[in-house]
Amino acid sequence: MNNTKSFASDNWAPVCPQVMEALIKANKGHADAYGNDHYTEKALKIVKQLFGEKTKAYFVYNGTAANILSLAAGTQSFNAVICSEHAHINVDECGAPEKFASIKLIDLPTDDGKLRIAQLEEVISVLRYPHQVVPNIISISQPTELGTLYSVDEIKNLAEFAHQHNAYLHIDGARIANAVVALHSDFKTMITKAGVDILSFGGTKNGLMFGEAVVILNPLLQQNFPLLRKQAMQLASKMRYISVQFIALLENDLWRRNAQQANDMAFLLAKRLSKFPQIKFTQIVETNGLWLIIPDDMAEKLLKQSFFHSWNPQKKEYRIMTSFDTTEKEVERFVAALEE
Ligand SMILES: Cc1ncc(COP(=O)(O)O)c(C=O)c1O
Repeated sequence: MNNTKSFASDNWAPVCPQVMEALIKANKGHADAYGNDHYTEKALKIVKQLFGEKTKAYFVYNGTAANILSLAAGTQSFNAVICSEHAHINVDECGAPEKFASIKLIDLPTDDGKLRIAQLEEVISVLRYPHQVVPNIISISQPTELGTLYSVDEIKNLAEFAHQHNAYLHIDGARIANAVVALHSDFKTMITKAGVDILSFGGTKNGLMFGEAVVILNPLLQQNFPLLRKQAMQLASKMRYISVQFIALLENDLWRRNAQQANDMAFLLAKRLSKFPQIKFTQIVETNGLWLIIPDDMAEKLLKQSFFHSWNPQKKEYRIMTSFDTTEKEVERFVAALEE
């Protein structure tokens, strides 16, 4: 194991200490299985407080499952999901939407990871019924896979557009905490009041060992969800170990502090790196990721200090990510490699 922290991804980070402590504390005695335990009851109550009383939430193991189940909840085999070309569901889930939800993805080009209403209109306006699949979910990621953000108004407009076209709005919120913190918002404003129908609510990148939730705001999508989750092999029998993690994260705003730290460290890193004119940012830094073109000699120096991923080798573009446990000292040491 490598003790040097990387800038590879927020899921390279360890479990947040408070979460680990909660896991250990919960590891006593027996508890009802399959989510009928008091930890799950408490965790779901907290989710309702954050998103609103009508919300229903279901814990699953990982983000891919949260996404696929969200899509499956709203689609039939003749439906399609519109998403960005960079969407995790499109490029990082090994065809799971097609295999497990039997749906076609319509992926649209975008330079910053965001979908625009004009693009959606273009797709929807040319459909020939009954010859073509019917798109009935618009899936966006907040933040996007390129670290960029939709404003709350943009989410509202997308939700309105979706509803006008008999579609649902799904958000892949693997890093939703980073988005809420960056926009000085809260879950009710960004998700519930904005009109989002279903959310993949990320926990892992915010400090959990594992565990995500599907948060369902639209009652139409809630009906068969327990069955869908079981069928999809995502009903944890020892559910308490996901639930206690969420309690630790959501109680006392730990989610907010973790996300804030990750974002702040990305902003600090961006500030330091922007002093080098040879480095070109390819995306604006709005959350905890930096996308940038780094000349070979500089990339080599930085990579000697800490690992981070190449994003587009042809363009010499890299992705650098911070996490809840990144410190100022680590950022300064990383950048100091360029000054040597
Ligand atoms: C945008 C986005 N969605 C979802 C996920 C969840 O992926 P996993 O199934 O690996 O938990 C990730 C993880 O990298 C992600 O970046």
